[in-house]
Amino acid sequence: MKHLKRLERLNRPWRAAAALLALAMIFVLAACGNGSRTPATDRGTDSGNGSTTARPDVNPSGTGDGTDATAMPSGTKTLVVYFSRTGEQYTVGVIDHGNTAIVAEIIAERTGADLWEVLPADDRYPLTYSELTDVAKKEQNENARPAYKGPAPELSEYDTVFIGAPVWWGDWPMIMYTFFEQNRDALAGKTLIPFSTHEGSGLSGFDRKLGSAVPGATIGKGLAVRGNDAQNRRDSVRSSVDGWLKDLGF
Ligand SMILES: Cc1cc2nc3c(=O)[nH]c(=O)nc-3n(C[C@H](O)[C@H](O)[C@H](O)COP(=O)(O)O)c2cc1C
Repeated sequence: MKHLKRLERLNRPWRAAAALLALAMIFVLAACGNGSRTPATDRGTDSGNGSTTARPDVNPSGTGDGTDATAMPSGTKTLVVYFSRTGEQYTVGVIDHGNTAIVAEIIAERTGADLWEVLPADDRYPLTYSELTDVAKKEQNENARPAYKGPAPELSEYDTVFIGAPVWWGDWPMIMYTFFEQNRDALAGKTLIPFSTHEGSGLSGFDRKLGSAVPGATIGKGLAVRGNDAQNRRDSVRSSVDGWLKDLGF
């Protein structure tokens, strides 16, 4: 298993959305008569995430095309592919170990999987949060396919691939679509299990969108982890990951 690094801090557009989000969550939880929310993760679906992102995801169930919550990948060779940023990140300040990287490493450690990081081919992502949100937004608006540093791992060696990324504007970062599309044939026929880190949007339909991007793959039940929990509540995240992996048959 291997990993890499980078840097960042905080800004407004997101803060406003997150403040609204927090209020919405409090409201929803109160309305449900469940005033507390302790789990560090939101397993499998977007429900309960109360997303109020600037571009809210509209997949309340978090499942869809090609998804299979009962995918059972035990006894197979496993890879964890992830994208993650360091630097200034929302609610955690400047970090030198990306939130998604932390979760990816826990998954790899628990499953004995190989680990591969999707890295941009150029220096396109700023280390300040505000600038990064602008770049990410532009990529999304343009439906861009930013290049990543290859080569990708030899995917034919794997039966199961965990694929994780931060939620960016309610969606996978566009660079992940580059990865899905460039490896579509190699990924088809495999079990793909998505995971996200986020600050309120949950899984953001990662499962459904992955199923659409890679027809022919079986999509396992996803996991959503708060980025702040990944940084600051690692034991809790570890046990959530363990429970999730157990449900998946690992
Ligand atoms: C460009 C950008 C867009 C983001 N959009 C969302 C969003 O739509 N919903 C959300 O919950 N969090 C959003 N976030 C917060 C990140 O998903 C969260 O901080 C994540 O844990 C970062 O992971 P990383 O350190 O692996 O990059 C966004 C962060 C950035 C930088």
